[in-house]
Amino acid sequence: MTIRNVTVVGAGIMGRGIAYVSALAGFSTTLVDVAEDKLHEAYESIKQTANKGMDRGKVTSEQKESLVANLNTTLSLEAAVIHTDLVIEAVPEKLALKKHIMETAEAHAPSHAIFTSNTSTISPTELASYTKRPEQFAVMHFFNPVHRMRLVEMVRGLDTTDETIAVIRTVAEQMGKETVEVNEFPGFVTSRISALVGNEAFHMLQEGVATAEDIDKAIRLGLNYPMGPLELCDLVGLDARLNNLNYLHQTLGEKYRPAPLLEQYVKAGRLGRKAGKGVYDYTNTSELIKK
Ligand SMILES: NC(=O)c1ccc[n+]([C@@H]2O[C@H](COP(=O)([O-])OP(=O)(O)OC[C@H]3O[C@@H](n4cnc5c(N)ncnc54)[C@H](O)[C@@H]3O)[C@@H](O)[C@H]2O)c1
Repeated sequence: MTIRNVTVVGAGIMGRGIAYVSALAGFSTTLVDVAEDKLHEAYESIKQTANKGMDRGKVTSEQKESLVANLNTTLSLEAAVIHTDLVIEAVPEKLALKKHIMETAEAHAPSHAIFTSNTSTISPTELASYTKRPEQFAVMHFFNPVHRMRLVEMVRGLDTTDETIAVIRTVAEQMGKETVEVNEFPGFVTSRISALVGNEAFHMLQEGVATAEDIDKAIRLGLNYPMGPLELCDLVGLDARLNNLNYLHQTLGEKYRPAPLLEQYVKAGRLGRKAGKGVYDYTNTSELIKK
């Protein structure tokens, strides 16, 4: 099966990144959101990413032109999926919301279309059960920032066929990504490890083991991680991280109980870079400053 038309649902941090790599790879790409300002913001940020790519010599002006020509935005999911070959859902990590997207897409998309979700934790079998095509459903888990992170974790649900996995592997490779194939288990490989490391860093911060800067520096320079776990939480979004931990706590047990300090930051609206403040303060400078 050849994929030509891709629908990306949700124009937030992940959706806009996925739409960028999709349109750049030559797929006719429709980005959908319920919020007009998000769509506008996403469109501008996609063009900005392409411009930065051109400055670095990674994107040619022809590629940027074809990216812009390949990209459409809409507020109507129903219209967006009518001719789609592949749906990539990237709405917030709330089961009820993802269920609504799957049911709406099922009602309007052609029967051959493959449905995927960029969920970080939720069961593909459960998401597939909201469609009538569980054989054509899988998780396609991209990473943030999508244009730079090389992996797509492909997760099978109970009924996912080999053909579906083969098609999404080809799509991911065309988008310039490497893939791994994971069997269904909460948190897959990456979210399971990353949630645990980030949560432990929050426990350390709370216990006064070291400052946020020194926890991040220790992990970067001592363990050779490209980013510290607290910086990464700020990038991912503390609310998203807390959501993941709550789900993993329910499904995998006590070791994933969210650190109280993380819960407190989320209650205070300190959600990370997108909010201007998380573990670090981003209000006055793009550099990290003291918490
Ligand atoms: N942020 C990360 O680093 C990261 C990494 C990997 C996977 N994920 C997963 O990707 C998904 C999206 O996360 P995000 O961080 O991009 O979220 P986000 O909050 O930045 O963006 C979500 C977008 O979905 C839109 N939306 C909400 N309801 C909608 C609807 N009914 N129809 C269409 N659009 C709708 C919102 O307006 C928003 O623009 C989540 O499942 C998350 O777990 C996130």
